[in-house]
Amino acid sequence: MKVVTTIAELKGIIKGAQEVGQSIGLVPTMGYLHEGHLTLASEARKENDIVIMSIFVNPTQFGPNEDFESYPRDLPRDTKLAESAGVDYIFAPAVEEMYPTDGGIYIRAGRQSQILCGASRPGHFDGVLQVVAKLFHLAQPTRAYFGQKDAQQVAIIQTMVRDYNFPLELRTVPIVREEDGLAKSSRNVYLTEQDRSEAPAIYAALQLAKDEMKETGNAEAAIEKARKSIETETSGRIDYLELLSYPDLAQVQENTTEVLLAVAVYIGKTRLIDNLMFSIKGE
Ligand code: PAF
Repeated sequence: MKVVTTIAELKGIIKGAQEVGQSIGLVPTMGYLHEGHLTLASEARKENDIVIMSIFVNPTQFGPNEDFESYPRDLPRDTKLAESAGVDYIFAPAVEEMYPTDGGIYIRAGRQSQILCGASRPGHFDGVLQVVAKLFHLAQPTRAYFGQKDAQQVAIIQTMVRDYNFPLELRTVPIVREEDGLAKSSRNVYLTEQDRSEAPAIYAALQLAKDEMKETGNAEAAIEKARKSIETETSGRIDYLELLSYPDLAQVQENTTEVLLAVAVYIGKTRLIDNLMFSIKGE
């Protein structure tokens, strides 16, 4: 496995792969890899001739008071893990390599970005689309792999791919969880012992809401059940807890079939997100 830090070198690799007709799997990450990322890489490994993982903590998707500076970084550790999951190349550019100039041209995410995480992180999804569009142009992947944990991100990227005709397939890989149900996340390292003991209650609450929704079809009652459970079982503060149609992220209607039950909770100082996607008709 090779670590590539320049766009010029990456382009050479892509050109070489394309000349011999190889398919390219891209796994975009911000590093500090956990099992969730490695599952994306393993999926990519199964389906492509070469696998490129990008590791880039993208400054443009962090707000001024967010954790860009303190976001965990450990390239030597990530390199070993990525290699074990079958990655061929890590693309780990410096910020100046990705954004050498600010030409004042930006991508603006649409309606799907104004809710859930987007409501409390203005501009976040614009930054995500900016870097993902750039990575797609650079790596020219046959397939790109994203985790369902960031379901809103996946929905917004899907829209960009569809509306701007990116010639690639998006693959969404299910959430990888700890044994007690906590969704794996690079930010879990911020949790204190007390926070960590409370955090699994988030997933448990989502399951309660899903059961309620399946039994009664009553979205409000389902949300209320999850809210009460999180408030009783944790000292956390709920940022949002919503049930929306997926992937359009709109209000659930009579004809809605697929839904996203999504939550963000501050446990201590750490903002944790989690979700369940399920079908509400035809089961
Ligand atoms: O999900 C992430 O880790 C990031 O948002 C992504 C897609 C790598 C873009 O920086």
